[in-house]
Amino acid sequence: MSKRAFNFCAGPAALPEAVLQRAQAELLDWQGKGLSVMEMSHRSDEYMAIASKAEQDLRDLLAIPSDYKVLFLQGGASQQFAEIPLNLLPEDGVADYIDTGIWSKKSIDEARRYGNINVAASAKPYDYFAIPGQNEWQLSKDAAYLHYASNETIGGLEFDWVPEVGDVPLVADMSSDILSRPLDVSKFGLIYAGAQKNIGPSGLVVVIVREDLLGRARSACPTMLNYKIAADNGSMYNTPATFSWYLSGLVFEWLKELGGVEVMEQRNRAKKELLYGAIDSSELYSNPIAKNARSWMNVPFRLADERLDQPFLAGADARGLLNLKGHRSVGGMRASIYNAVGLDAVQALVAYMAEFEKEHG
Ligand SMILES: Cc1ncc(COP(=O)(O)O)c(C=O)c1O
Repeated sequence: MSKRAFNFCAGPAALPEAVLQRAQAELLDWQGKGLSVMEMSHRSDEYMAIASKAEQDLRDLLAIPSDYKVLFLQGGASQQFAEIPLNLLPEDGVADYIDTGIWSKKSIDEARRYGNINVAASAKPYDYFAIPGQNEWQLSKDAAYLHYASNETIGGLEFDWVPEVGDVPLVADMSSDILSRPLDVSKFGLIYAGAQKNIGPSGLVVVIVREDLLGRARSACPTMLNYKIAADNGSMYNTPATFSWYLSGLVFEWLKELGGVEVMEQRNRAKKELLYGAIDSSELYSNPIAKNARSWMNVPFRLADERLDQPFLAGADARGLLNLKGHRSVGGMRASIYNAVGLDAVQALVAYMAEFEKEHG
């Protein structure tokens, strides 16, 4: 078997090796049926069993209350930027949004196409290095919902708290932090996450929505974007992304076998403490984010001299430490250390960073 590299990609991201091996073993002949999951009717008994087990395992992992629907949809997290206002924002209503970086800004720009959006708070005055406390937020009186991105994948800025908005439905983009640690789903009206980080392959977005929020879509909402229609049809109004759904189910099984999100929290805490510790104790590397808002999953860092970026990346590649280049809009480096990236990967990265600093620092 070929040696697998340590993959720090922000997404599509590393998948657990055990999951890939299982998918490989089942690829040609799923459980003796003589065909691949990719070749099955989504309405077959076999596929329905795969789909409902994946949903149940996710429900178990996040202790999702029974009055929430779990939807397996397409269009990525980006499609949710439109789908949320089309379903939850009345034409004469207002929705509150919190701007903490590139992804929340995209969600704001898209929502503005559909109605009145109040940016209740922005991290801009803090250069996107800190999250304004809720005492600084200018919330609307009768918001249809409040939207925020719990983890900004590009900036590496993450909420370590859940906003308190009373009866206003709380809507969260959790694309890059879902399943990284325990979560109280009952505080949210809707949670969504593109799959290609902590869930599975791309082609899928998971939506967890409280049932009372279904059935509020505008009449102009496209059928395919209507949550109620998706829920009433078990996310199979049309042909779903069957293989991505199946593979996500294998990831959920893997997570359960490892001990669930509580165990992930311990592992992820150890990983991020090691990496931020290495950055903070060095003269060469730096991360500007306020300590209480540092992302557990996406760790951006800069080298003191940009001219060292290329040699750093080349040396990393040569050691099988892949995809460390920061997003094109911010530059520098970024290590994404999702659930499938083990402590061994972070140890290898930190060792390389120290070696590089010795040579070039
Ligand atoms: C926080 C966040 N929201 C939204 C998106 C967009 O996701 P997609 O590419 O699935 O549309 C991403 C993608 O990286 C993301 O990190």
